[in-house]
Amino acid sequence: MHFSRFVLALSFLCAVSAHVITQRQAAPEVSTPQYLPIPSAAVGPTIGASGYYVEDFGRGTYMVTDGGYQALFLVSTEGVIVVDNPPTIGTKMLYAIGNVTHLPVTHFVYSHSHADHIGGAILVPNDEVEIIAHIETANLLAQVNDYNRPAPHKTFKKKYKLKVGNQTLELSYKGANHLEGNIFIYTPAAKVVMLVDVVFPGWTPFDRLGEVKNVPGFIKAHDQILEYDFEHFVGGHLSRSGDRTDVEIQKEYVLDLFNNCVDVINLTGTDDPVLGGANILGPVFAVNPGNSWAAFSVYLEVTAGVCADKTNEKWVTRLAGSDVFQLANAQTMIESLRIDYGILGPFANM
Ligand SMILES: *[C@@H]1O[C@H](CO)[C@@H](O)[C@H](O)[C@H]1NC(C)=O
Ligand SMILES: *[C@@H]1O[C@H](CO)[C@@H](O)[C@H](O)[C@H]1NC(C)=O
Ligand SMILES: *[C@@H]1O[C@H](CO)[C@@H](O)[C@H](O)[C@H]1NC(C)=O
Ligand SMILES: [Zn+2]
Repeated sequence: MHFSRFVLALSFLCAVSAHVITQRQAAPEVSTPQYLPIPSAAVGPTIGASGYYVEDFGRGTYMVTDGGYQALFLVSTEGVIVVDNPPTIGTKMLYAIGNVTHLPVTHFVYSHSHADHIGGAILVPNDEVEIIAHIETANLLAQVNDYNRPAPHKTFKKKYKLKVGNQTLELSYKGANHLEGNIFIYTPAAKVVMLVDVVFPGWTPFDRLGEVKNVPGFIKAHDQILEYDFEHFVGGHLSRSGDRTDVEIQKEYVLDLFNNCVDVINLTGTDDPVLGGANILGPVFAVNPGNSWAAFSVYLEVTAGVCADKTNEKWVTRLAGSDVFQLANAQTMIESLRIDYGILGPFANM
């Protein structure tokens, strides 16, 4: 449902831009790529006519999803705690809560600052609601001043224990990963860990490792999740919730991607007849004298391509969408290996 609306909006946009462009040039050709089918392990519950699905984790803890995004709410004896409200879920979050309890929402937790996860915060109608977020999330929100994402009332730096009636939510910041301010959210009663935009149960991470800002922190976050005693994992996406196995599988995937990309960069530091740095860069400089950007661009494209292909040999049948985002994920990994980890291949003639 939401997808067809998206396609509709897209075709409308294309129609508008095509109309404007025809004055000067032909509309660009739009090709529709066909990717591999989705492995069954990536398939989630069917989203019915209501447009949302509620998963009951027990002890008053529920996940709400529209099939693309996920958020959480906890019913306590004194009120409801909501964690995130993606705009795609929006008012459906209030219906989901309303079908479980008559109690009002009293607390709202921001997992991180991104609009696609908390942009529905404004819909929670209670003036008494207390918004809680990490201090870095508050700082990032202050930069953009978005009406849909009100400034939090309460911020913390390291840990915050939110107790409402009979519910306890442990919020914890372990440093930047997906971005600064992205927190671990844990409910010991229902044994649920939520960390958004890091692990994508059943799926390859979204574009560029989920638009990651800090790759070393992102990689470390997999072990940090596994340190919790949990039965359910909520990643904010995509088709279903996860568990320990999903986190372990994505950790294995990320380390494979890491190691494959290291191998490729290291090979470019040698005189390998195909991947040796001189053999990649030389022909580009010959055609584009003095153009370092051209040489660098080709270097990044070639190394990411080889790393992505190698990674897909193992993962294309295990995680959905590997053939969609593997190249983008490898590009992000290659860049991080160079500038975060200092694995510089041919660009370190010390
Ligand atoms: C807290 O109370 C709510 C409402 O009575 C109940 O549904 C839920 O299971 C309780 N949760 C815990 C952790 O005790
Ligand atoms: C219960 O869910 C239905 C379907 O989403 C919705 O129309 C209705 O308003 C909800 N009830 C409450 C009290 O929120
Ligand atoms: C890759 O090269 C780096 C030096 O840039 C070295 O420290 C590392 O051990 C090499 N890794 C492999 C797997 O060859
Ligand atoms: Zn995000």
